[in-house]
Amino acid sequence: MTSSPLSTLGDETARALAAIEAADELGALDESHATLVGRRSAFVALQRSLGTLAPEERGAAGATLQEARRRVEEAFAARRALLESRERQRRLDADRLDLGDVVVAQVPWRLTLGHPSLVASTQRELEDVFVAMGFKVADGPEVESDWYNFEALNIPPAHPARGMWDTFYVDLGEPETVVLRTHTSPTQIHLMEAAVAGGTLPVHSVMPGRCYRRDTPDARHLAAFHQVEGLVVDRDITFADLAGVIETFTKAYFGEDIDARLRPAYFPFTEPSAEFEITCTICRGAGCRTCSQTGWIELGGCGMLDPAVFDAVGIDPEEWSGFAFGFGIDRCAQMRYQIADMRALIENDVRFLEQFS
Ligand code: DAH
Repeated sequence: MTSSPLSTLGDETARALAAIEAADELGALDESHATLVGRRSAFVALQRSLGTLAPEERGAAGATLQEARRRVEEAFAARRALLESRERQRRLDADRLDLGDVVVAQVPWRLTLGHPSLVASTQRELEDVFVAMGFKVADGPEVESDWYNFEALNIPPAHPARGMWDTFYVDLGEPETVVLRTHTSPTQIHLMEAAVAGGTLPVHSVMPGRCYRRDTPDARHLAAFHQVEGLVVDRDITFADLAGVIETFTKAYFGEDIDARLRPAYFPFTEPSAEFEITCTICRGAGCRTCSQTGWIELGGCGMLDPAVFDAVGIDPEEWSGFAFGFGIDRCAQMRYQIADMRALIENDVRFLEQFS
């Protein structure tokens, strides 16, 4: 009896299983798969040799061969799955960001914290200066009726002075027109009304907040900007009190080498009215492009309260007098930090913002 062509099958199978078990990498595993069960492998040679068997023996021999091959393929698939998952884990381990290392070694703790915007911190500093001078801080609505934003401030409908404020209208309807406040001055009206109603005159208050104008933003204007309003209503208040407050504020906030000056101007709600200017902080008064060679920069307006405004809120101008002022917070920040273009304040470029942390 000739030896069965499958006499080596046990050895071949054991060799194949050992080779699969020994493969440590996917590449090596796939290579050994080709040599073990590929076209030129011993398995395929055995398959071919089945033809030399007597027909009645072929069935059983074929089944034996199939079974051996199935075991090899199964071992191969299991090994492949194992190596694949090891490979995945290896890649994950290599990719992992070790936060412990990074936080301790590279990133200063400061980076994880935010800070108030330059406008917010400027507003706080301005409030501090005025609080130190005896003012209270008050707040008012950003959406106002036409009456508060204009009429009570002695700016009747269709009056040419309305052209001083390019206005965003929220609602033009009857009975009340509603606007986004174009200045913080309407908060004066709320404060005086409350003081009259509560019998709490005199008033010494500043009112910071956001205002809106239909302006095209440029280097010195934003469509949404901030002002701080000041209001003093008391007995025997004179223009000298106003000038003193402006002067004291300017030195306290901008420094001793910066001066303030008042120039005659027109505002419907004050009489007399003035524009309030400070030494240009960029050229220190020498004259430059920012101040149009004048050496001065306008911060805002001020004046003695007009009797028509007292009238609108029911304060007796024979008994009380007062002054008001209003100026830009963003403009203060711009002057204090010599920011060439005010739009930098709203562009959210962290390289700019981080300078003020
Ligand atoms: N509200 C004015 C403006 O935005 C500025 C102003 C001028 C405020 C005179 C005042 C004032 O309180 O008395 O243009």
